[in-house]
Amino acid sequence: MHVGKATFLKVLFLIVGVGILWIFYDQTLHRHRKGRIKLKDTGRPVQHMVQTDHDVKTHVHAFIPNKDSVHLTVEKEADVSIKSPGENNRTGTYPHGSCIKGFIQKKLREFMLSFDPDMHMFITQNYRQWGVLGKSSLNGLPFDFSSANLVRLDTLLKLLPSNGRPVIKSDNGCRRCLVLGSSGVLLDKGLGPVIDAFDVVIRMNDAPVKGYEKDVGSRTDFRIFYPESSTLNQADLDSSAYYVVVMYKSNDLNWLQAILTKVKPTGHFWKSIAQKLDIDPARFLILNPQVLQVAAREHVRLQGKWPTMGLIAMTFALHYCDEVDLAGFGYGSSILNHYYEHITGGQPDGGTQHNATAEKDYLIWLLHEGIIGHDLTGVYKDHK
Ligand SMILES: *[C@@H]1O[C@H](CO)[C@@H](O)[C@H](O)[C@H]1NC(C)=O
Ligand SMILES: *[C@@H]1O[C@H](CO)[C@@H](O)[C@H](O)[C@H]1NC(C)=O
Repeated sequence: MHVGKATFLKVLFLIVGVGILWIFYDQTLHRHRKGRIKLKDTGRPVQHMVQTDHDVKTHVHAFIPNKDSVHLTVEKEADVSIKSPGENNRTGTYPHGSCIKGFIQKKLREFMLSFDPDMHMFITQNYRQWGVLGKSSLNGLPFDFSSANLVRLDTLLKLLPSNGRPVIKSDNGCRRCLVLGSSGVLLDKGLGPVIDAFDVVIRMNDAPVKGYEKDVGSRTDFRIFYPESSTLNQADLDSSAYYVVVMYKSNDLNWLQAILTKVKPTGHFWKSIAQKLDIDPARFLILNPQVLQVAAREHVRLQGKWPTMGLIAMTFALHYCDEVDLAGFGYGSSILNHYYEHITGGQPDGGTQHNATAEKDYLIWLLHEGIIGHDLTGVYKDHK
């Protein structure tokens, strides 16, 4: 068959063109795949599943003073997983680098069909349109948002200028969050600069900052707490933080109203509460009680037990953030319960209202499935 020169050249160009396109496609795909490890169904610990790509990754080796003089390898790209850390070689994710928008939500939906990435995190003035609060489906939980209480909630919302819409300064469209527990495991690791580098730092209850900056950082974007834990020192209040109130009971409505109107709160509280807090009302948010419900019924089946603040904060982060790491979780006989108190002994069951074992297993599962990134303080790394 005679093939003309022009036809021959056309075919040649076509072949070369397709070839170039294929190489480009393959490379791009490859890079995207390499960025994340797939852990589904392997049941193997994260540390052993890690792969590295020196072409893509940029390392930042930061020397962080540690009791054991350990070099902490900080990864530049949050979506590229770390190498196998040996004993006493803890590796954290440095949160600057590529962040995958919606990563957690996409990943979690693979496991939890009921997971709703659009669930409201904070109560806003139009919450009645959601058709959730005041419904009987919320009964039986550690709060009672009956319709009578909703009227009081309306009054309260009028006192909150933020109207449930926080503005995070460091928000660049993709949120890398750190959920920071208060375990003594944080002490002497010098993680402060690593913690402060996250887009969003979430602290709990009245965990102090002042005097512990080296280990726990100094920035706070959200402080999630309930009135009984609000014995915060003025020195630990951060004017750029949002104070997220967790409502367990209707008295908590009284408390927030009293704080906002500077009137003495009424009602029964299980522990003495702050009578006044010098916080700008614009910095208060009310956590949607549905977050507690979802935490206790869907994320962990707590069978009537209440979620701890750690689980509530994690559930919030799984909805609000694109990527999440955790630090300061975990108890042990040799670990202080809280980095700011000299009490050991841990909380094997987390008290009678909680099920710490079930919650711990859930956090380990999140790590092992790669839904959340790393436990920067490494307590959960050796499990399973
Ligand atoms: C920590 O782990 C990294 C990565 O595997 C390794 O290069 C480094 O030498 C280790 N450092 C120590 C002190 O073991
Ligand atoms: C806590 O949860 C575990 C499942 O993770 C369950 O086996 C155990 O019975 C629960 N404990 C209590 C006290 O509910």
